[in-house]
Amino acid sequence: MDYKNRTKVSRILIDDAVPVDSNVIILGWVRTVRSSKEVEFIEVNDGSCMKNIQGVVQNPESFPILEQVLTGAAVRLEGKLVPSQGKGQKYEIAVSNVDLIGAADATFPLQKKRHTMEFLREIAHLRPRTNTFGAVNRIRSKLAFAIHKYFQDRGFYYIHTPIISTSDAEGAGNLFRVSTLDFQNIPKKEGKIDWDADFFAGESFLAVSGQLEAELLATALGDVYTFGPTFRAENSNTSRHAAEFWMIEPEMAFAELEDNMDVAEDFLKNLFRYAVENCTDEMEFFGQWIDKEVRGTLEAVAGAKFERLPYTDAIRILEESKEPFQYPVSWGLDLQSEHERFLTEKVFKKPVILYDYPAKIKAFYMRMNDDGKTVRAMDVLVPKVGEIIGGSQREERYDALLDRMRSMGIHNLENYEWYLDIRRYGSVPHSGFGLGFERALMYITGMANIRDVLPFPRVPRWARF
Ligand code: 4AD
Ligand code: MG
Repeated sequence: MDYKNRTKVSRILIDDAVPVDSNVIILGWVRTVRSSKEVEFIEVNDGSCMKNIQGVVQNPESFPILEQVLTGAAVRLEGKLVPSQGKGQKYEIAVSNVDLIGAADATFPLQKKRHTMEFLREIAHLRPRTNTFGAVNRIRSKLAFAIHKYFQDRGFYYIHTPIISTSDAEGAGNLFRVSTLDFQNIPKKEGKIDWDADFFAGESFLAVSGQLEAELLATALGDVYTFGPTFRAENSNTSRHAAEFWMIEPEMAFAELEDNMDVAEDFLKNLFRYAVENCTDEMEFFGQWIDKEVRGTLEAVAGAKFERLPYTDAIRILEESKEPFQYPVSWGLDLQSEHERFLTEKVFKKPVILYDYPAKIKAFYMRMNDDGKTVRAMDVLVPKVGEIIGGSQREERYDALLDRMRSMGIHNLENYEWYLDIRRYGSVPHSGFGLGFERALMYITGMANIRDVLPFPRVPRWARF
């Protein structure tokens, strides 16, 4: 199949690493075909980059197979690399041989025209072959690499936390159950479901976060991070929530909240800079077709200082704003996305780190401040997307943590013995945060819906493909 002999289009058009007059073999999919009696132009994309390579076939009549070379077909082109006659590309292929590898007929849904995002979600098995989703999937890969590089370069260890979990790390109760019980015939004991008969001899769920286990490893390895899938059964059909998403969770022993903010800010800026500098093709595409401002915004944000503001001050700003919010604002209430967006888009016009939230609205593991009312939480908010990072300094004091868990109504404390134990043996202040990978991608690409930065999104009533 010439897998080893073909030349990737990125080698030709991005790296400019293939000399003119070389004989090349291209393996890819036909984007468009234009033909006349004398010449046929075949635009082929092989997935290696945004750009298509143009194959030029002289005397098309002498290649009967061309009748089947239609949009969507997989082809092998062989020919000489020559400087392009036309505008828009530097090189093209003077084709000497065309082979059809896999035909596609006129029913192929991605004929040349613009499709709506909604339509493309219905054909998520084919949408990777569009420019938009090619760019999305490539930038996902490049930024995943950038994230690993960022942490590895700084001595963080990549750790793997369990996907099946018996605890609710966020205490928010939006868990997917993992069970092998027969739903038609659920075993009961004294009128209640007998979880002891289930696979793990107890209730178990898909993890909403790897944080609790990351804390265990941070208090052994120092600086660690996770990067893995996360599951939340939030029944919220918004453009920013998915039931399955990827989260990056660094956890740092001996770090306090301010260190945590510093890492979060530096990490995000590094990621934005990486996108601008190393994903030039994709960023150019997003700038042209999705959101004209993304590139400029990323560059500006990478050079600006994030605003840092206590929750209490944010509430005051919101109350004094006289903005007609849909949801009420007052001290003690959680911020809604409209409030977060108001702060970042209207007030500060840049990313904002809010911290010291009321204890009541935050998870049990966050460190209590001396005021006894607020905890060392931090959320990083950005324009358009809202919250992209949630994190905190953790409660490292055994008694304080136990009190907090009790007051939050966690009654199955025996399930958290292991978590409490690291507060009993060599406990240290430590902090960490979680970046929603898709939220970051939305911000970087300008894509407006989380369903369009995941290759195969899972949202309420939708787990196809
Ligand atoms: O704020 P969250 O719930 O924080 C945690 O899970 C902590 N355990 C993280 C930590 O301190 N290690 O979630 C972190 C981030 C959010 O800021 C958001 O970007 C993303 O995860 N996120 C979601 N992304 C997509 N769909 C959802 N349903 C999300 N829920 C949270
Ligand atoms: Mg949060």
